[in-house]
Amino acid sequence: MNYEGVREAAEWLMQQTMYRPAIAVVLGSGLGDLVNEMDEKDVIPYAQIPGFPVSDVAGHADQLVFGTIGGREVVAMQGRFHYYEGFTMKQLTFPIFVLRQLGVKSLIVTNACGGINENFAPGDLMLITDHINLLGNNPLIGPNDERFGPRFPDMSEVYDRRLVKHAKDMARSLSIEVKEGVYALFPGPCYETAAEIRAYKILGADAVGMSTVPEATVAKYLGMNVLGIACITNMATGISKTKHSHAEVLAIANASSKRFCCLVGGILKNWPDLNA
Ligand code: HPA
Repeated sequence: MNYEGVREAAEWLMQQTMYRPAIAVVLGSGLGDLVNEMDEKDVIPYAQIPGFPVSDVAGHADQLVFGTIGGREVVAMQGRFHYYEGFTMKQLTFPIFVLRQLGVKSLIVTNACGGINENFAPGDLMLITDHINLLGNNPLIGPNDERFGPRFPDMSEVYDRRLVKHAKDMARSLSIEVKEGVYALFPGPCYETAAEIRAYKILGADAVGMSTVPEATVAKYLGMNVLGIACITNMATGISKTKHSHAEVLAIANASSKRFCCLVGGILKNWPDLNA
C-alpha cells in the first residue's frame, strides 16, 4: 500500500469534515439505514475522495458519512468494495488504511451472508467470532510498509473478544437475539454450490459471504479493534430449499435493518473503554 496515497486521502478528508471519529462502521448490503440514526452528518461521496474505488452493486450508496450516534462521533462507510467486482485486494481495502490514518481505532464490519449452521434462520444476526479466508488471496501480499503494520501480523484474535462480549451484553439488554459463529469468505459473484457448502461446513464455517474478511484482516494488521456483525439473509445453497437471488438478500437485510440499527446504536452509545 502506498503510504503517500493513503495520507493524501486522509488529509483531503480532514479538510472536508471537522469530525475525528475513533470508530468506523462498514455497512453491508441492505444495512445502510444506520446513517438515518446519525445526527449532524457530513456526507462525502467516494467518487470525490482521492484514490477511493467506486462500486456499482445495487444496495450500496457509496459514500462516507460522518456524524454522531448518541453523541459519539462515528464514520460510516455506506457501501463497500468486493473482490468479485474486479478490485484488487489493495484497492478494496484502501478505505480501511485511510480510516486508520484519520485516527479511527475501532472498526465494526457488517455484511449480509448465507447461513450454514442449521440452528440459524434468515433474519438472524451473527457476531463473527473468527473467519476462514478461502480466497487464496490476501490484502497484505506485496511489499510491507512498517509505518502501517508488521510483515507477519498475528491473526489469533481478529475479532476483539471484549467487543464480542460488549455486543452480546447490549443484545441481551435490548432483547435482540444474536448468534455467534465463524464466517467463511467465498469470492463470488456466483453463490456457492451445494458441494462447496457441505465442504465449508466440515471446515467449521457457520456462515458464508463475499466480503468482510479483507477489511477485517487489514484493520487487525493496522492495530484496530474489530467487531463483525453478519446478517443471515438466506440459508446457504443445499440447506435452503429455494434458489438464491440478490433481491431476496436485500429484502431480508432490509427487514432486519431495524434490529441491526438498534443493536449497533446500542453498541456505539455504550462503547467500552478498550484501553482500560
Ligand atoms: N453466499 C454468499 N454470499 C451471500 C449469501 C450466500 O448465500 N447470502 C448473502 N451473501
